[in-house]
Amino acid sequence: MADKQKTIGVLTSGGDAPGMNAAVRAVVRAAIKKGMRVIGIKRGYNGLINGDMVEMNMRSVSDIIQRGGTVLYTARCLEFKEEAGVLKAKETCIKTGIDGLVVIGGDGSFRGAADLSRHGIPCVGIPGTIDNDISCTDYTVGYDTAMNTAMEMIDKVRDTSQSHDRCSVVEVMGRRAGYIALNTGIACGATCILVPELEYKIEEVIEKIKTARKLGKQNFIILVAEGVGGVNEIAKQIEEATGIESRATILGHVQRGGNPTVRDRVAASQLAYRAVELLDGGIGNRVVGFQKDEVVDFDIQEALSMKKEFPIDLYNIANDISF
Ligand code: ADP
Ligand code: F6P
Repeated sequence: MADKQKTIGVLTSGGDAPGMNAAVRAVVRAAIKKGMRVIGIKRGYNGLINGDMVEMNMRSVSDIIQRGGTVLYTARCLEFKEEAGVLKAKETCIKTGIDGLVVIGGDGSFRGAADLSRHGIPCVGIPGTIDNDISCTDYTVGYDTAMNTAMEMIDKVRDTSQSHDRCSVVEVMGRRAGYIALNTGIACGATCILVPELEYKIEEVIEKIKTARKLGKQNFIILVAEGVGGVNEIAKQIEEATGIESRATILGHVQRGGNPTVRDRVAASQLAYRAVELLDGGIGNRVVGFQKDEVVDFDIQEALSMKKEFPIDLYNIANDISF
């Protein structure tokens, strides 16, 4: 008797990120090329629990590689955090004949993927988040696009800041991580960069602005990661202490949208391809990622226990060249 055709599911979960569509496309195309069936699951784990899914073919992923967001929609599914939710999802997989699952998302989504793997449905995670805050990988899908979007926006803020001799205090995304802030801060010539990984003192920020002003600088960008927050208060304190008119800007969700950059489209395609190879080989409970530009994969528990060092050397460079 011929082997049963393998069927895999693909879903996007947690916060969306530009490049998720490129990953979905590559999963679908790679799997079909290898002779598998692919089911697209809607709204993250919700779709697995409710059976909201659609069979994918080569053409269902046409014309999406360049689009931001996710055609599969995404969600934060609280029910899936409970054992009962995972069991319902497992039942759907058995009923639908799903033998393996690709989960595109962040750490939370991978915890869910580990739970489902434990229940006998092999899952492979692809890191998709603008924050780049997943420890097992140097790079997450969406990060480059988000940074470029933030950079363009900050450049615009800078134009008006320059015209008015002002200080602009700009918040970029990153609840737990300062990677976007650090890199866009360097790229936009921020005087100070405040990140959740490092303590800061407002007195030191003010001192740096005063020193830079003595050196002839007339307008200032202070870049603040969302996890530090308080941009209105920071702007007020700077204005009071220096007399420099200051304004706060929160860039917000503009950073999560938009057409993915080359880097995100290519990274998504590479990671998706490896994820499909793993499932094709019957291997689950893995997360794929990049280490020094090589595609690698880890056991999910191992991946979740890893720690990523904040690039302090880069932070110090930023500080030294921002007067
Ligand atoms: P991200 O994947 O971006 O970190 P979340 O933390 O919101 O985003 O997680 C996305 C989804 O993953 C959650 O809504 C839930 O369905 C699932 N999830 C999160 N944490 C767990 C957990 N501890 N156990 C099982 N599933 C989880
Ligand atoms: O994880 C990506 C991210 O954009 C974080 O930087 C931000 O804190 C969070 O998602 C916001 O999520 P949402 O507005 O979708 O709840």
